[in-house]
Amino acid sequence: MKTPAINLETEQQLFFHNYARLPLHIAYGKGSFFYTTEGDRYLDMIAGIGVNAIGYGDQRLEHAITEQAAKYIHVSNLFMQKPQFDLAAKLLEISGMSKVFFCNSGTEAIEAAIKLARRFAARNGDTSKTQVLSLTNCFHGRTYGALSLTAKPKYVGGFEPLVPETGMIDFNDIDDLERKVSSRTAAVFVEFVQGEGGIHKVSEAFIARLKGLAAEHDFLIVADEIQAGCGRTGNFFSYMPFDLQPDLVCAAKPLGGGLPLGAVIGCDKVAEVFTPGSHGTTFGGNPVACAAGLAMIEAIHEDKLMENATETGAMMRATFEKMAEKHAQILEIRQYGLMIGITVNREAKYYVDEALKRNVLVNATSQNVIRLLPPLSISKEEAQLCLDTLDAIFSEEKQA
Ligand SMILES: Cc1ncc(COP(=O)(O)O)c(C=O)c1O
Repeated sequence: MKTPAINLETEQQLFFHNYARLPLHIAYGKGSFFYTTEGDRYLDMIAGIGVNAIGYGDQRLEHAITEQAAKYIHVSNLFMQKPQFDLAAKLLEISGMSKVFFCNSGTEAIEAAIKLARRFAARNGDTSKTQVLSLTNCFHGRTYGALSLTAKPKYVGGFEPLVPETGMIDFNDIDDLERKVSSRTAAVFVEFVQGEGGIHKVSEAFIARLKGLAAEHDFLIVADEIQAGCGRTGNFFSYMPFDLQPDLVCAAKPLGGGLPLGAVIGCDKVAEVFTPGSHGTTFGGNPVACAAGLAMIEAIHEDKLMENATETGAMMRATFEKMAEKHAQILEIRQYGLMIGITVNREAKYYVDEALKRNVLVNATSQNVIRLLPPLSISKEEAQLCLDTLDAIFSEEKQA
Protein backbone atom coordinates (compact mmCIF):
# COMPACT_ATOMS: atom_id res chain seq x y z
CA MET A 1 0.00 0.00 0.00
CA LYS A 2 1.23 3.48 -0.84
CA THR A 3 2.07 5.47 2.28
CA PRO A 4 -0.31 8.44 2.36
CA ALA A 5 1.20 11.92 2.57
CA ILE A 6 0.79 13.32 6.08
CA ASN A 7 -1.72 16.11 6.14
CA LEU A 8 -4.77 17.10 8.13
CA GLU A 9 -7.13 15.30 5.78
CA THR A 10 -5.21 12.06 6.21
CA GLU A 11 -5.42 12.50 9.93
CA GLN A 12 -9.19 12.81 9.55
CA GLN A 13 -9.25 9.52 7.67
CA LEU A 14 -6.96 7.53 9.91
CA PHE A 15 -7.82 8.50 13.44
CA PHE A 16 -10.76 8.94 15.75
CA HIS A 17 -11.38 12.68 15.95
CA ASN A 18 -10.63 13.16 19.63
CA TYR A 19 -7.73 15.55 19.01
CA ALA A 20 -7.85 18.97 17.34
CA ARG A 21 -4.30 18.78 16.01
CA LEU A 22 -2.33 21.82 14.90
CA PRO A 23 -1.33 21.70 11.24
CA LEU A 24 2.38 21.44 12.12
CA HIS A 25 4.71 18.54 11.40
CA ILE A 26 7.53 18.47 13.88
CA ALA A 27 11.01 17.71 12.60
CA TYR A 28 12.99 18.16 15.84
CA GLY A 29 13.30 20.29 18.95
CA LYS A 30 16.16 22.15 20.60
CA GLY A 31 15.87 23.82 24.00
CA SER A 32 12.62 25.83 24.16
CA PHE A 33 12.00 25.65 20.40
CA PHE A 34 10.75 23.06 17.96
CA TYR A 35 11.30 23.09 14.23
CA THR A 36 8.81 21.95 11.60
CA THR A 37 9.50 19.89 8.51
CA GLU A 38 8.94 23.17 6.63
CA GLY A 39 11.96 24.59 8.47
CA ASP A 40 9.98 27.02 10.67
CA ARG A 41 10.99 27.62 14.29
CA TYR A 42 8.40 27.89 17.09
CA LEU A 43 8.83 28.92 20.70
CA ASP A 44 7.10 26.18 22.71
CA MET A 45 5.27 27.68 25.69
CA ILE A 46 3.31 24.49 26.38
CA ALA A 47 6.17 21.94 26.32
CA GLY A 48 4.25 18.84 25.26
CA ILE A 49 1.44 19.75 27.69
CA GLY A 50 3.73 20.27 30.64
CA VAL A 51 5.99 17.29 29.94
CA ASN A 52 9.25 18.61 28.47
CA ALA A 53 10.51 20.18 31.69
CA ILE A 54 14.13 20.46 30.58
CA GLY A 55 13.37 21.38 26.97
CA TYR A 56 14.16 19.49 23.80
CA GLY A 57 17.41 17.77 22.91
CA ASP A 58 19.01 17.56 26.35
CA GLN A 59 22.12 15.40 25.99
CA ARG A 60 21.91 14.03 29.54
CA LEU A 61 18.41 12.76 28.88
CA GLU A 62 19.33 11.28 25.51
CA HIS A 63 22.35 9.59 27.03
CA ALA A 64 20.32 8.06 29.89
CA ILE A 65 17.78 6.71 27.41
CA THR A 66 20.26 5.20 24.97
CA GLU A 67 22.45 3.78 27.73
CA GLN A 68 19.51 1.96 29.35
CA ALA A 69 17.98 0.95 26.00
CA ALA A 70 21.28 -0.73 25.08
CA LYS A 71 21.06 -2.87 28.25
CA TYR A 72 17.38 -3.82 28.22
CA ILE A 73 14.22 -1.97 27.23
CA HIS A 74 11.69 -4.13 29.04
CA VAL A 75 11.77 -7.12 31.33
CA SER A 76 8.53 -6.62 33.39
CA ASN A 77 7.99 -6.34 37.11
CA LEU A 78 8.85 -10.00 37.58
CA PHE A 79 12.43 -8.72 38.02
CA MET A 80 14.57 -6.30 39.99
CA GLN A 81 15.46 -3.29 37.86
CA LYS A 82 18.06 -0.76 38.97
CA PRO A 83 16.58 2.23 37.06
CA GLN A 84 13.29 1.75 38.96
CA PHE A 85 15.08 1.54 42.30
CA ASP A 86 17.17 4.64 41.60
CA LEU A 87 14.17 6.74 40.59
CA ALA A 88 12.04 5.45 43.48
CA ALA A 89 14.83 6.27 45.93
CA LYS A 90 15.07 9.79 44.49
CA LEU A 91 11.30 10.35 44.78
CA LEU A 92 11.30 9.11 48.37
CA GLU A 93 14.26 11.33 49.22
CA ILE A 94 12.48 14.37 47.73
CA SER A 95 9.10 13.67 49.31
CA GLY A 96 10.22 12.11 52.60
CA MET A 97 7.62 9.38 52.00
CA SER A 98 7.83 5.57 52.19
CA LYS A 99 6.73 3.65 49.10
CA VAL A 100 6.42 4.06 45.33
CA PHE A 101 4.23 2.35 42.75
CA PHE A 102 5.12 3.00 39.09
CA CYS A 103 2.60 3.00 36.24
CA ASN A 104 2.53 4.54 32.76
CA SER A 105 0.49 7.74 32.90
CA GLY A 106 -1.25 10.28 35.07
CA THR A 107 -4.66 8.71 34.85
CA GLU A 108 -3.21 5.32 35.88
CA ALA A 109 -1.58 6.92 38.91
CA ILE A 110 -4.99 8.32 39.90
CA GLU A 111 -6.62 4.89 39.38
CA ALA A 112 -4.00 3.26 41.59
CA ALA A 113 -4.51 5.93 44.26
CA ILE A 114 -8.31 5.43 44.23
CA LYS A 115 -7.88 1.68 44.59
CA LEU A 116 -5.29 2.05 47.32
CA ALA A 117 -7.48 4.51 49.23
CA ARG A 118 -10.53 2.24 49.11
CA ARG A 119 -8.54 -0.81 50.15
CA PHE A 120 -6.98 1.14 53.01
CA ALA A 121 -10.43 2.35 54.11
CA ALA A 122 -11.72 -1.22 54.12
CA ARG A 123 -8.79 -2.62 56.13
CA ASN A 124 -10.85 -3.08 59.29
CA GLY A 125 -13.77 -4.61 57.45
CA ASP A 126 -15.74 -1.35 57.15
CA THR A 127 -17.50 -1.75 53.79
CA SER A 128 -19.25 1.63 53.97
CA LYS A 129 -16.10 3.77 53.83
CA THR A 130 -15.93 4.02 50.04
CA GLN A 131 -16.59 7.65 49.14
CA VAL A 132 -13.89 9.32 47.03
CA LEU A 133 -14.09 13.06 46.50
CA SER A 134 -12.36 15.71 44.43
CA LEU A 135 -12.81 19.48 43.99
CA THR A 136 -14.93 21.23 41.39
CA ASN A 137 -13.06 22.59 38.36
CA CYS A 138 -10.47 19.80 38.70
CA PHE A 139 -8.98 17.41 36.16
CA HIS A 140 -7.66 13.99 37.15
CA GLY A 141 -7.69 11.97 33.91
CA ARG A 142 -9.72 9.97 31.42
CA THR A 143 -10.04 6.41 32.71
CA TYR A 144 -13.23 5.68 34.62
CA GLY A 145 -12.05 6.28 38.17
CA ALA A 146 -10.11 9.41 37.27
CA LEU A 147 -12.93 10.59 34.99
CA SER A 148 -15.41 10.17 37.84
CA LEU A 149 -13.29 12.63 39.83
CA THR A 150 -13.02 15.07 36.90
CA ALA A 151 -15.21 18.14 36.84
CA LYS A 152 -15.69 19.38 33.31
CA PRO A 153 -18.86 18.18 31.52
CA LYS A 154 -16.85 18.40 28.27
CA TYR A 155 -14.73 15.45 29.42
CA VAL A 156 -17.42 13.50 31.22
CA GLY A 157 -20.49 13.98 29.01
CA GLY A 158 -21.77 10.85 27.32
CA PHE A 159 -19.59 8.48 29.33
CA GLU A 160 -21.92 7.98 32.27
CA PRO A 161 -22.57 6.06 34.46
CA LEU A 162 -19.45 6.98 36.39
CA VAL A 163 -17.84 5.09 39.25
CA PRO A 164 -20.20 4.96 42.26
CA GLU A 165 -19.43 6.76 45.51
CA THR A 166 -17.53 9.59 43.83
CA GLY A 167 -18.37 13.26 44.19
CA MET A 168 -17.08 16.82 44.34
CA ILE A 169 -16.52 19.53 46.91
CA ASP A 170 -16.84 23.15 45.76
CA PHE A 171 -13.34 24.51 45.19
CA ASN A 172 -12.03 26.39 48.25
CA ASP A 173 -15.48 26.27 49.90
CA ILE A 174 -14.93 25.23 53.53
CA ASP A 175 -18.67 24.99 54.28
CA ASP A 176 -19.14 22.59 51.40
CA LEU A 177 -16.09 20.60 52.52
CA GLU A 178 -17.59 20.23 56.00
CA ARG A 179 -20.93 19.20 54.48
CA LYS A 180 -19.49 16.61 52.08
CA VAL A 181 -16.88 14.66 54.07
CA SER A 182 -17.82 12.13 56.74
CA SER A 183 -16.71 8.85 58.24
CA ARG A 184 -17.73 7.30 54.90
CA THR A 185 -15.03 9.24 53.06
CA ALA A 186 -12.02 7.19 51.94
CA ALA A 187 -10.06 9.95 50.20
CA VAL A 188 -10.09 13.51 48.92
CA PHE A 189 -8.08 14.25 45.76
CA VAL A 190 -6.60 17.74 45.39
CA GLU A 191 -4.67 19.54 42.68
CA PHE A 192 -2.93 22.17 44.79
CA VAL A 193 -2.73 24.23 41.61
CA GLN A 194 -5.44 23.24 39.16
CA GLY A 195 -4.07 23.03 35.61
CA GLU A 196 -6.85 22.21 33.13
CA GLY A 197 -9.19 24.21 35.35
CA GLY A 198 -7.31 27.41 34.46
CA ILE A 199 -4.40 27.67 36.99
CA HIS A 200 -6.21 28.12 40.30
CA LYS A 201 -4.48 27.57 43.62
CA VAL A 202 -6.27 25.93 46.54
CA SER A 203 -6.41 28.19 49.62
CA GLU A 204 -4.37 27.61 52.78
CA ALA A 205 -7.55 27.85 54.85
CA PHE A 206 -9.21 25.11 52.81
CA ILE A 207 -6.18 22.83 53.17
CA ALA A 208 -5.97 23.49 56.92
CA ARG A 209 -9.61 22.49 57.35
CA LEU A 210 -9.17 19.48 55.06
CA LYS A 211 -6.25 18.33 57.20
CA GLY A 212 -8.34 18.63 60.36
CA LEU A 213 -11.27 16.75 58.85
CA ALA A 214 -9.00 14.01 57.47
CA ALA A 215 -7.72 13.36 61.00
CA GLU A 216 -11.24 13.44 62.42
CA HIS A 217 -12.82 11.11 59.81
CA ASP A 218 -9.72 9.03 58.98
CA PHE A 219 -9.57 9.62 55.23
CA LEU A 220 -6.56 10.01 52.93
CA ILE A 221 -5.50 13.24 51.25
CA VAL A 222 -4.19 12.61 47.75
CA ALA A 223 -2.13 15.29 45.99
CA ASP A 224 -2.48 15.19 42.21
CA GLU A 225 0.93 16.57 41.18
CA ILE A 226 0.67 15.34 37.62
CA GLN A 227 0.68 18.81 36.06
CA ALA A 228 1.91 21.04 38.91
CA GLY A 229 4.65 18.68 40.13
CA CYS A 230 8.28 18.01 39.18
CA GLY A 231 9.39 21.58 39.83
CA ARG A 232 6.87 23.50 37.75
CA THR A 233 5.64 25.79 40.52
CA GLY A 234 9.15 26.42 41.90
CA ASN A 235 8.87 23.61 44.48
CA PHE A 236 9.35 20.00 43.49
CA PHE A 237 5.73 19.35 44.44
CA SER A 238 3.12 22.09 44.62
CA TYR A 239 1.81 20.88 48.01
CA MET A 240 5.19 21.55 49.60
CA PRO A 241 4.64 25.21 50.66
CA PHE A 242 1.44 24.15 52.48
CA ASP A 243 1.39 22.97 56.08
CA LEU A 244 0.36 19.46 55.05
CA GLN A 245 1.93 16.13 54.18
CA PRO A 246 -0.39 14.29 51.75
CA ASP A 247 -0.87 10.55 52.30
CA LEU A 248 -0.49 9.84 48.59
CA VAL A 249 1.13 11.85 45.80
CA CYS A 250 0.41 11.14 42.13
CA ALA A 251 3.04 12.22 39.60
CA ALA A 252 3.40 11.79 35.83
CA LYS A 253 3.84 14.09 32.81
CA PRO A 254 7.55 15.12 33.08
CA LEU A 255 8.34 12.21 35.39
CA GLY A 256 9.61 9.98 32.56
CA GLY A 257 11.58 12.75 30.84
CA GLY A 258 9.13 12.54 27.92
CA LEU A 259 8.59 8.77 28.05
CA PRO A 260 5.35 7.39 29.54
CA LEU A 261 5.66 7.07 33.31
CA GLY A 262 3.44 7.68 36.31
CA ALA A 263 3.94 7.14 40.02
CA VAL A 264 2.02 6.95 43.26
CA ILE A 265 4.12 7.84 46.28
CA GLY A 266 2.71 6.75 49.63
CA CYS A 267 3.29 7.56 53.28
CA ASP A 268 4.12 5.06 56.03
CA LYS A 269 0.57 4.39 57.08
CA VAL A 270 -0.46 3.03 53.65
CA ALA A 271 2.76 1.09 53.07
CA GLU A 272 1.18 -2.35 53.49
CA VAL A 273 -2.06 -1.80 51.55
CA PHE A 274 -0.96 -3.35 48.27
CA THR A 275 -0.02 -7.01 48.57
CA PRO A 276 1.40 -9.22 45.77
CA GLY A 277 -1.08 -9.33 42.92
CA SER A 278 -3.49 -6.76 44.37
CA HIS A 279 -2.48 -4.17 41.78
CA GLY A 280 -0.11 -4.14 38.83
CA THR A 281 0.74 -3.28 35.24
CA THR A 282 2.89 -4.94 32.58
CA PHE A 283 4.77 -1.82 31.50
CA GLY A 284 4.64 0.30 34.66
CA GLY A 285 8.07 1.52 35.70
CA ASN A 286 9.62 0.83 32.32
CA PRO A 287 13.39 0.95 32.90
CA VAL A 288 14.12 3.32 30.01
CA ALA A 289 11.43 5.72 31.25
CA CYS A 290 12.80 5.47 34.82
CA ALA A 291 16.36 6.15 33.66
CA ALA A 292 15.08 9.15 31.69
CA GLY A 293 13.08 10.35 34.70
CA LEU A 294 16.10 10.21 36.96
CA ALA A 295 18.22 12.11 34.43
CA MET A 296 15.46 14.71 34.15
CA ILE A 297 15.23 15.19 37.95
CA GLU A 298 19.02 15.43 38.23
CA ALA A 299 19.06 18.04 35.46
CA ILE A 300 16.34 20.03 37.26
CA HIS A 301 18.56 20.16 40.34
CA GLU A 302 21.87 20.61 38.52
CA ASP A 303 20.60 23.49 36.38
CA LYS A 304 18.63 25.04 39.27
CA LEU A 305 15.46 24.93 37.19
CA MET A 306 13.10 25.33 40.15
CA GLU A 307 14.86 28.60 40.93
CA ASN A 308 14.48 29.51 37.26
CA ALA A 309 10.76 28.66 37.40
CA THR A 310 10.37 30.99 40.38
CA GLU A 311 12.40 33.86 38.90
CA THR A 312 11.29 33.69 35.28
CA GLY A 313 7.69 33.11 36.36
CA ALA A 314 7.82 36.22 38.56
CA MET A 315 9.35 38.25 35.74
CA MET A 316 6.54 37.10 33.41
CA ARG A 317 3.89 37.98 35.99
CA ALA A 318 5.34 41.48 36.45
CA THR A 319 5.29 42.04 32.68
CA PHE A 320 1.75 40.69 32.34
CA GLU A 321 0.67 43.03 35.14
CA LYS A 322 2.10 46.00 33.24
CA MET A 323 0.39 44.74 30.09
CA ALA A 324 -2.93 44.50 31.93
CA GLU A 325 -2.73 48.24 32.66
CA LYS A 326 -2.89 48.99 28.93
CA HIS A 327 -4.86 46.03 27.59
CA ALA A 328 -8.41 45.70 28.91
CA GLN A 329 -8.59 42.22 27.37
CA ILE A 330 -6.55 40.89 30.33
CA LEU A 331 -8.92 40.24 33.23
CA GLU A 332 -6.74 38.26 35.66
CA ILE A 333 -3.22 36.88 35.95
CA ARG A 334 -2.47 33.74 37.96
CA GLN A 335 1.14 32.59 38.15
CA TYR A 336 2.82 29.92 40.26
CA GLY A 337 6.37 29.41 39.03
CA LEU A 338 6.08 28.56 35.35
CA MET A 339 2.43 27.59 35.56
CA ILE A 340 0.65 30.67 34.26
CA GLY A 341 -3.00 31.41 33.47
CA ILE A 342 -4.21 34.67 31.94
CA THR A 343 -7.98 35.14 31.96
CA VAL A 344 -9.05 37.18 28.95
CA ASN A 345 -12.36 38.73 27.95
CA ARG A 346 -12.97 36.46 24.95
CA GLU A 347 -12.25 32.89 23.84
CA ALA A 348 -8.57 32.28 24.52
CA LYS A 349 -8.34 30.28 21.29
CA TYR A 350 -8.15 33.59 19.43
CA TYR A 351 -4.78 34.29 21.09
CA VAL A 352 -3.57 30.73 20.53
CA ASP A 353 -4.23 31.11 16.80
CA GLU A 354 -2.71 34.59 16.60
CA ALA A 355 0.40 33.55 18.54
CA LEU A 356 0.83 30.52 16.30
CA LYS A 357 0.88 32.82 13.26
CA ARG A 358 3.80 34.55 15.00
CA ASN A 359 5.60 31.25 15.73
CA VAL A 360 4.80 31.05 19.43
CA LEU A 361 2.84 28.09 20.78
CA VAL A 362 0.56 28.93 23.71
CA ASN A 363 -2.47 26.98 24.91
CA ALA A 364 -6.08 27.71 25.86
CA THR A 365 -7.96 26.09 28.71
CA SER A 366 -11.31 26.73 30.37
CA GLN A 367 -12.53 28.74 27.35
CA ASN A 368 -11.05 32.09 28.30
CA VAL A 369 -7.71 31.25 29.92
CA ILE A 370 -4.40 31.47 28.07
CA ARG A 371 -2.25 28.78 29.67
CA LEU A 372 1.53 28.79 29.64
CA LEU A 373 3.54 25.73 30.73
CA PRO A 374 6.96 26.39 29.16
CA PRO A 375 10.02 24.23 29.78
CA LEU A 376 11.46 25.00 33.23
CA SER A 377 14.72 25.64 31.36
CA ILE A 378 13.30 28.60 29.43
CA SER A 379 15.58 31.66 29.45
CA LYS A 380 14.37 35.16 30.33
CA GLU A 381 15.01 36.23 26.71
CA GLU A 382 12.81 33.41 25.42
CA ALA A 383 10.11 34.28 27.95
CA GLN A 384 10.35 37.89 26.79
CA LEU A 385 9.77 36.77 23.20
CA CYS A 386 6.48 35.20 24.29
CA LEU A 387 5.52 38.33 26.26
CA ASP A 388 6.33 40.64 23.34
CA THR A 389 4.31 38.45 21.00
CA LEU A 390 1.22 38.48 23.23
CA ASP A 391 1.65 42.22 23.84
CA ALA A 392 1.67 42.84 20.07
CA ILE A 393 -1.45 40.68 19.63
CA PHE A 394 -3.32 42.56 22.36
CA SER A 395 -2.28 45.92 20.80
CA GLU A 396 -3.22 44.98 17.25
CA GLU A 397 -6.54 43.54 18.38
CA LYS A 398 -7.54 46.93 19.80
CA GLN A 399 -6.66 48.66 16.54
CA ALA A 400 -8.57 46.15 14.41
C1 LIG B 1 -3.72 17.31 37.10
C2 LIG B 1 -3.78 16.17 36.14
N1 LIG B 1 -4.13 14.95 36.58
C3 LIG B 1 -4.18 13.89 35.76
C4 LIG B 1 -3.92 14.01 34.40
C5 LIG B 1 -3.99 12.82 33.51
O1 LIG B 1 -2.70 12.49 33.07
P1 LIG B 1 -2.49 11.59 31.76
O2 LIG B 1 -2.91 12.43 30.59
O3 LIG B 1 -1.01 11.27 31.76
O4 LIG B 1 -3.31 10.39 31.90
C6 LIG B 1 -3.57 15.27 33.90
C7 LIG B 1 -3.32 15.45 32.46
O5 LIG B 1 -3.39 16.53 31.93
C8 LIG B 1 -3.51 16.38 34.78
O6 LIG B 1 -3.19 17.60 34.35
